[in-house]
Amino acid sequence: MKRIAPWTKFADVEEQLLHGDGAFLVGAEAGRPNAMTIGWGLIGTVWGKPMFLALVRPTRYTHGVIERTGEFTVCVPIGKMKEELAFCGSHSGREVDKFKALRLQTLAGAEVGPPIIAGCDVAYECRVLVRTSLVPAGLLDASVRTKYYSGGNLHTLFFGEIVAAWRL
Ligand SMILES: Cc1cc2nc3c(=O)[nH]c(=O)nc-3n(C[C@H](O)[C@H](O)[C@H](O)COP(=O)(O)O)c2cc1C
Repeated sequence: MKRIAPWTKFADVEEQLLHGDGAFLVGAEAGRPNAMTIGWGLIGTVWGKPMFLALVRPTRYTHGVIERTGEFTVCVPIGKMKEELAFCGSHSGREVDKFKALRLQTLAGAEVGPPIIAGCDVAYECRVLVRTSLVPAGLLDASVRTKYYSGGNLHTLFFGEIVAAWRL
């Protein structure tokens, strides 16, 4: 695992989110890691810091974990681990230990509690600086409103400062 500058791999990660099968958003509580798949996310600069913005619906188990711990990792397999991504995007950590079910190997990061998933290509360690929620009055576009939020469950936006980045 080689430590890299946070900005180094932004283009690859955006490509994986846009055209690939997503990435793992990993939280951990009481020593138990959990991963959910994310297809959306923004990486860039906010408040002069490298930032990963994750959009997580309140019903996800991961939502509570990140809210309570303020930490997550984003682990990005580029063009691989498709089955694992599909599983983590369709099962909840409330019902199943996904790390055990998939035999995911973990690597310890340097700055935050949640681990990094071995086999990925890029990983970010993130600490939440700001958390905010979408509100109905802010959903200006009718197609976004009806396509994504007709059932409510509006995303929470977690702004995670990238406090360490790795090329695996
Ligand atoms: C490709 C893909 C992308 C997804 N992107 C997101 C996302 O960005 N935000 C979100 O809240 N859920 C997203 N999901 C759904 C969660 O991954 C799914 O509900 C998961 O089971 C939640 O796990 P948890 O309950 O252990 O947190 C996505 C699912 C898939 C398959």
